[in-house]
Amino acid sequence: RLSDAFRPHPIHDFTSLRELPDSYAWNQRDDGGYPSAAGEAFATESVPVVDLDDPNALQSIGHACRTWGVFQVTNHGIPTSLLDMVECTCRTLFSLPLHQKLKAARSPDGVSGYGFARISSFFSKLMWSEGFTVVGPPDEHFRQLWPHGYSNHCDVIKEYNEEMKKLAGTLMRLMLGSLGIVAKQDIKWAGPKGDFKEASAALQLNHYPACPDPDRAMGLAAHTDSTLLTILFQNNTSGLQVFKEGVGWVTVPPVPGRLVINVGDLMHILSNGSYDSILHRAMVNRTRHRLSLAYLYGPPSSVEISPHPKLVGPNHPPLYRPVTWNEYLHTKAKHFNEALSSVRVCV
Ligand code: SIN
Ligand code: FE2
Repeated sequence: RLSDAFRPHPIHDFTSLRELPDSYAWNQRDDGGYPSAAGEAFATESVPVVDLDDPNALQSIGHACRTWGVFQVTNHGIPTSLLDMVECTCRTLFSLPLHQKLKAARSPDGVSGYGFARISSFFSKLMWSEGFTVVGPPDEHFRQLWPHGYSNHCDVIKEYNEEMKKLAGTLMRLMLGSLGIVAKQDIKWAGPKGDFKEASAALQLNHYPACPDPDRAMGLAAHTDSTLLTILFQNNTSGLQVFKEGVGWVTVPPVPGRLVINVGDLMHILSNGSYDSILHRAMVNRTRHRLSLAYLYGPPSSVEISPHPKLVGPNHPPLYRPVTWNEYLHTKAKHFNEALSSVRVCV
């Protein structure tokens, strides 16, 4: 259960608007003073790309996590046909009329269903996007969207979730491996095979309709993910930007076959600060609509994440106290802008 601070905004049909209403027009101060889309730096650096078939993948991932907190992967084993199908399910879902989508609306204290981005309530302006969250099997909500013929869409989502879970397990082993942590020996909840079978996850489908005034609108405001890691698939329209200290906002253009991997806040805690979670946002486009799918990956609900003992010593005190994923989400709901510092160990 998420706290009241995650109350969703009422949804109205903003996709047919010809002009940007004031409630959707962001000023810099509405978004923590970050440079706006119009003032976007022409960053000369780009997010690292790691080939998972490369024997040096572990080192490259470790380096990317330390220096960026985000990287892209190729040769990740997710078939293109599955990515095409899941994109098609997303497209079909968001093209339904609003009244149909609202039949599967996320209830105020629920986690699954249709609605505005969960972080909307932390900002005074509205975001130019709509979303659909899937936690567990999608059947119940999908039946409300498509009274007939929902089962194909359910199968696609289930298969995607299974593939994502395998890939997330692999990424966990590599990300932790690079810190000297062996999943199956050093992390109890990783299980005897070190495959993190008990992990929890949510799949977040995002749709950013074409926008009449993209320079003043915000698709998804700047945030870090509360996860261990996030696997992001974006369709062929760019919009994702990540913030790198000393560089500014860097666009991560979609490249067919690549997935984007974000370090989340819980990984930052587990790594005792070695890996930084990545601040990111989504911009919108005047002529094209955009789709993205975020696989939000974290520990089982009862597991507390804390700085790993291997990374703690006399010269490296634990920076954070132990928290479950849910407890962290509650903390973040209360202190959105200082979420990590709210679980810092005070010395
Ligand atoms: C997200 O942060 O969940 C989505 C970002 C994107 O749409 O690229
Ligand atoms: Fe995100």
